[in-house]
Parts: sequence; C-alpha cells; structure tokens
Amino acid sequence: MGDLLKNAYNPETFRRQGHALIDLLADYLDSSLNRREDKVIQWEDPETAEKRWEERLFAQNADPVALFRQVVDESIKLHHPRYMGHQVSPAAPVAALAGALNDLLNNGMGVYEMGIPGTAMERAVLKSVARKMGFGSAADGVLTSGGSLANLTALLTARSVSARRQVWSEGNNRQLALLVSEEAHYCVDRAVRIMGWGEAGIIKVPSDEAFRMRTELLEPLYEEAIAQGKEVIAVVGSACSTSTGSFDDLEAIGRFAAKYGLWFHVDGAHGAANIYSSKYRHLVKGLELADSVVMDFHKMLLTPTITTALVFKDGRHSFRTFAQKAVYLLNQEGDEDWYNLAKRTFETTKTMLSLRAFSLLQTYGEAIFDEYVTTVNELTASFADWLETRTGWQLAVRPACNILCFRIAPPNLNALEANALNEAIRQELLEEGKFYIVKTNLRGLTFLRVTLTNPFTQIGDLEALVSVLEKKAGLWSQETS
Ligand SMILES: Cc1ncc(COP(=O)(O)O)c(C=O)c1O
Repeated sequence: MGDLLKNAYNPETFRRQGHALIDLLADYLDSSLNRREDKVIQWEDPETAEKRWEERLFAQNADPVALFRQVVDESIKLHHPRYMGHQVSPAAPVAALAGALNDLLNNGMGVYEMGIPGTAMERAVLKSVARKMGFGSAADGVLTSGGSLANLTALLTARSVSARRQVWSEGNNRQLALLVSEEAHYCVDRAVRIMGWGEAGIIKVPSDEAFRMRTELLEPLYEEAIAQGKEVIAVVGSACSTSTGSFDDLEAIGRFAAKYGLWFHVDGAHGAANIYSSKYRHLVKGLELADSVVMDFHKMLLTPTITTALVFKDGRHSFRTFAQKAVYLLNQEGDEDWYNLAKRTFETTKTMLSLRAFSLLQTYGEAIFDEYVTTVNELTASFADWLETRTGWQLAVRPACNILCFRIAPPNLNALEANALNEAIRQELLEEGKFYIVKTNLRGLTFLRVTLTNPFTQIGDLEALVSVLEKKAGLWSQETS
C-alpha cells in the first residue's frame, strides 16, 4: 500500500479536520441564525457555477476544509431567517451530527447485521410515529429516501393488496386506477405511470376554492371509472397539497374508501408533521383511517434530507410491497423478519436514516416538534393577517399551515401583466440574494410563495420582504409603463 490510503485514513488528520469543520459549521450557524450574514443565497447562473467547479475538481488541494468553506459560502442558507422558500427544514444541529456519524460508520442497513442499532432505532421511531398518528399496535413501516419514493412504495403495496390480479408475478392485464386531487404532488402521478397504469390510471378529482379535494365528486368519478371498465383500487388524500398547503378532508375520503373497499393512502409528506402540534393536530383529523401514510422528517421535523417515514396501519402489508405472496399468512406473527429492512424498502443499501430522527427525539422529546410546527404555522397566520391589511396584495387562500401564496396585483394591471410583474420581482429578489422565496402558478395566476420553515424568522422579516417587493414593483411599473 502507498501513502495515499494511509494518509486518507489517518485518525489524527481526521480529528484535526473534523474539529475545523465543526468550527466552520458553528460559525455558519451563528452568522446565519443571527443575521450577521446578509445573503441567503449567492445567486449565479448554472454555467458559471459549473465552470468554476469543473476547474476546481483537479486543482490539488491538501486542505479539504478550504473546500468545505467554499461549499458553505456558495450554498443556500436554510438557517438564515430570511430563507422562506421550499419545504425543507433547517437541519437541527444534533441531527446533522448524527448524519456525520452515519457517514463514517457507513452501515449498509439492508440486512440486520449491517446495521444493528440503525435497524432497531428505525423500528422504535416507526412505532412511535404510528402511535402518534393514532394507529394501533399492528401498525409498522419503514424509513425511506424521500416522499416521492415513499408514495411509490405505498402505492405498490396498495396494488399488491388490493388489485384482483397478482401483478407482481403475473403482470398487468387490466386498467388499474386511483383517485387523487388535482392539487396532489406530481410524484403520485409519476408513481402511477411508473407502475404502468398510464394516464388513464390517474383520476384527478377537482379541488374547491381553497384547493382541497372536492370529496363530493369521489363517488360519481368512481362510478364513471367503473363504467369505463377500470379497476379502481385506491384513493389518495393530500395532507397537505404542495402549492398552497391545503388539507383534504381525510375523514370524508376515509369513509368513501371504506364504503368501496379501496386502499386509502395519505400523502402527508409535508403536513402529517401536524400530529405533533397540539394546536394544529386537527388539520390531519381522519389520518388514522388511512391504510398507509407518508411523512417527511426533512420537511417539517428538522432532520437532514432526506428522511421519510412510511407507515402502514397493518404493518404486515409492508411485506407485500416487493413480494406477491402474503408471507404473513404463513406466519401469523407476521413480523419475524422485520429486521431485514431491504425486504420492505426499494433501497437495498440504505443510509442510517433512523439516527437523525432518533437523536432529536431522545434529546428533546416530541415537544420540540410541537414547538416547531406550532411556531411556524402561527407565524404564517400572522403574516397572512398583516398582508390582508395592505392594499395591492392578494392571497391565494388563507393559510392552513406554514405555506402561503400571495401576489401583488395593482389595480391598473390585468392578470397577465400582474403575472409578469410577480415573476420579475421574484427573479430580482433571487438574484439579489437577501431573501429566498419561490413562486407557483395557480389556475393561470403567478403567485409568490413562502414556506416558513425557519422558526427564527420573525414578522419583521416578512414585513421587510413585502417592503422590498413593493419597491421593486414600483420600479418595474415605472420601467414598463
Ligand atoms: C405533498 C408532497 N408529497 C411529496 C413530495 C416529494 O417529497 P420528497 O421531496 O421528499 O421526495 C413533496 C415535496 O415537495 C410534497 O410536497
């Protein structure tokens, strides 16, 4: 062996670099949380960034901490209170430390021996989440890599359990379908197509003025699909939708699913976290009626990306996802093999996702999730209250949780001109980098969108945001008139 490998694994070098990295990250936390840094994002166009990183790739550098510093400097800063963009929470430091531990240990997790603590922690986390969701002791599930994959996994299970034909072993010869709100995250649509059901396999249920599924249309749409010869096997509730944070009526969907014997899946990637909030838990009333639920820890529960819980009301169903035979029928206990996790997840080798959630729960208890979810939801409601008192602003809908869509709509502009205005001021804001918000299109109108994921954001930050946007809108109007 040459020196390179010996150097790369030198424990003392690791100790030195590790301490330097922790110092760097602690400084990053301090300057972001306390607004010493005024930029949330260092915007640059993709080609410039690509060119620089390509040049850096083989510029020999014996000090990886310099590289780590560059990454920190050039990355979007989720810990900055003026980060208000996509649905990813600022990672809690203890959960980030858990991530570093996981990376060095590199336990593979697929089979029990390759991750004994990780496997046991996963079971403990899942059981506690299932209890909190209101499920009984039969519930179980897995952690997996993101809401998109978890939704696909849940729907594969629904197919295995509910479709008349054993699609896993025999292939599909029928038009399978599910019902889901038109406002659902696109990954549900994608999952349907991955399963080979095509466009006809997704029956989109229109939404109401608050972007919630119109549940009174479920029966007629179901009847129509059956009349067309489709085999409808599932209905998916959104808790909540991505764009506007709207919560479907899970109780009504649950009743409908029970009446027709359909699998009831809830995409709670964002909003299922409300189970932890004593004030906002009502948003997910009816969750316990679901056969399966997805909840992202990295969106609303402070863990690093990406950490998702997929919970089944009847844990035995999770053994059906990637196997047609009902293994549990042979074994009434059903879970003797629960500890070989790869049997139930798409991943074979999997990172130790459980440690991130476990470390938070053990250190702070569920109370930290209550405090977090409640804080960001309340702040969003206060922001909406305040914005409604200002002239020239429109809300898409009153916020149910921590997502708010709003737009500036001066009376002298028509809808298309107002769309162009909102697009332009959001782009300027992005390039300036002092706030980070996103945009979305709702029924033909461009809205600015915030997801308040940083619990250190204050109403003053939001007032400052609006004031900057108003100035930009004024200038834009002058320039384009
Ligand atoms: C409702 C909903 N479901 C699923 C997803 C996809 O989750 P992930 O990004 O963890 O794959 C998102 C992401 O925005 C979402 O909002």
